[in-house]
Amino acid sequence: LLPPRLSGRRLLVSAGPTFEDIDPVRFIGNRSSGKMGFAVADAARRMGAEVTLVAGPVSLPTPPGVTRVDVRRAAQMREAVLAALPGMDAYIGAAAVADYAPAETLPQKLKKSGDSLAITLVRTADILADVAAHAARPRLVVGFAAETQDLEAYARDKLHRKGLDLIAANDVSRAGHGFEGDDNALSVFWRDGRHDIAHGPKTRVARELLQLLADRLEAME
Ligand code: PMT
Repeated sequence: LLPPRLSGRRLLVSAGPTFEDIDPVRFIGNRSSGKMGFAVADAARRMGAEVTLVAGPVSLPTPPGVTRVDVRRAAQMREAVLAALPGMDAYIGAAAVADYAPAETLPQKLKKSGDSLAITLVRTADILADVAAHAARPRLVVGFAAETQDLEAYARDKLHRKGLDLIAANDVSRAGHGFEGDDNALSVFWRDGRHDIAHGPKTRVARELLQLLADRLEAME
């Protein structure tokens, strides 16, 4: 049993990838399994929080006691996240949202013709930045950063650019870190600080991230 440090708090978590459909059989997506975000949602619930989890297309069971909203595309994830915002104490964006989506989804399967194929992609809205700038902004907005180089510089850039309170960066170029597996390690950055969470099970990494979040919420009172 975990100490109920988040009791009375309401947390909104996003997890998993988004799938942007090209046609009825193909999509653009990425390698997120949802495990990191689901571990955060589960640990937050175990620490006493009321948790809503907006999940992209993943095949994971809903953590006990967590309210789950399933979505597929980035635009649907944004809508579900913004609808759930009022009254939340924190938003934790662990989802790997597609940055670009096909300009149009074809109603029929695209037939093979020619040796190359060009698909026009358009930028998706940045859910995390929209949450941070929203009238119903939670007191804490926490982003993730999936990087393959210069972890701290890129993560700090996202922290400032998107108006976040904390950012949890993982080096997805390292085996056993980031996408798909059961383990991860995080470097958490805020304006004037840093905390490294050692490599290990996502369940433990999630708990340690939430301890930092609980510290912050307590410090705000
Ligand atoms: O799901 P797993 O297999 O367990 O893998 C976990 C993970 C690697 C997906 C996770 O730990 C992680 O790093 N999630 C963020 C992945 C990501 O998309 O990072 P990013 O650096 O591209 O985006 C930065 C932040 O902006 C993220 O909080 C992301 O949710 C958010 N974002 C990005 C684009 C967009 N259109 N909207 C967003 O909200």
